[in-house]
Amino acid sequence: MRTLFKNIKELLQVRDKPISFVAGADMNILPTIKNAYVTFQDGIISDFGSMSNCPSSSFDILVDASGRMMLPSWCDSHTHIVYSGNRESEFSNRIRGLSYTDIAKNGGGILNSAKKLQETSEEELYQQSKVRLEEVIKLGTGAIEIKSGYGLTTESELKMLRVIKRLKEEYPIEIKSTFLAAHALPKAFENNKAKYLNTVIEELLPLVIQEKLAEYIDIFCETGYFSVEDTDLILKAGKKHGLIPKMHVNQFTAIGGVQKGIEYNALSVDHLEEMRNIDIDSLKNTNTMPVALPGCSFFLGISYTPARKMIDAGLPLALATDYNPGSAPSGNMNFIIAAACIKMKMTPEEAINAATVNGAYAMGLEKNIGSITIGKKANVLLTKPINSYTAIPYSFGHNQIDKIYLNGIEIS
Ligand code: NIG
Ligand code: FE
Repeated sequence: MRTLFKNIKELLQVRDKPISFVAGADMNILPTIKNAYVTFQDGIISDFGSMSNCPSSSFDILVDASGRMMLPSWCDSHTHIVYSGNRESEFSNRIRGLSYTDIAKNGGGILNSAKKLQETSEEELYQQSKVRLEEVIKLGTGAIEIKSGYGLTTESELKMLRVIKRLKEEYPIEIKSTFLAAHALPKAFENNKAKYLNTVIEELLPLVIQEKLAEYIDIFCETGYFSVEDTDLILKAGKKHGLIPKMHVNQFTAIGGVQKGIEYNALSVDHLEEMRNIDIDSLKNTNTMPVALPGCSFFLGISYTPARKMIDAGLPLALATDYNPGSAPSGNMNFIIAAACIKMKMTPEEAINAATVNGAYAMGLEKNIGSITIGKKANVLLTKPINSYTAIPYSFGHNQIDKIYLNGIEIS
């Protein structure tokens, strides 16, 4: 099937050759073509250029995109959308003065979500999660990473990962799966962290590998959760089985986790609300993508990742939602881009690069999606009629996305 879009007001993120990621001053460059055309063939971007070179041959579908912009779909490289229930009562308690840490210490937080998930059947968990996946697709996300980590028992971690696998099979969006059993210490192992880590490594991990349930391994490396030494054990075990490391790190405290991630050639290090100069320096000239999660900063009222300082130091940065019930119950990438501009002082160009090419890299998908490049998947967005692409972050809380295409097919 061949589709032609013509009269596109501005075609964003055009890259003649696929690039891995953009860093430093290059993040402020968003290549575009004004008054452009794009063609898809069988779900793949087959051609693009200026309207003066628009092909005249016949197409199965012809779309006149006058007044609208086209861009690659958002790449959300960090989410926890498979969960059960919600944490509205904790939210209410936080407004009344309790901190995220107070709530976790009283058995709330991740353990609260784990209890709910353990009591939920796999079918019910799938039904709850697919609603969120459909919601984020409509908000323009065309590739997403989803983590386990609310199971915290062998049975329930596998349940979560099987739900992710089923979502992957049943939806046209690109999905990457991450094994995050080291998310919090379950109650049953309260005074025996070593035993829990041993269970994860010796019992659970081989089953995850056997069923091919994950490509990435993650850990919450944080004071009161898992230490740098624990991180070493988990990442080493994951790597031995071929899982690529990702990390939750420097959310509340900087304890050396960034350096551990780099040592293991982690694909990404995520959160980074608390960054020391040494953490920024360590990330220079590595293959590890720093990922900021401004939805979590907004929702918890904690620091924002120092994007300006990091980009000005020459680093790349990706943006993701962290969609989860406790610290970021929203999967709206349009809001994330607005928050990055408004609260982190990223330019619209930097934010769009961070949410497309750099997000694709943070999921290992940079060859398939994240830019308008011939041969990449036709996962793209058409905006409503807008003056400039700055309208996307400017009109925060609104959705400027009109039409969504996954594998070249319009999603209604
Ligand atoms: O990325 N920080 C660790 N994990 C999640 C939140 C977990 C929760 O509160 O349920 C995050 O923010
Ligand atoms: Fe997270």
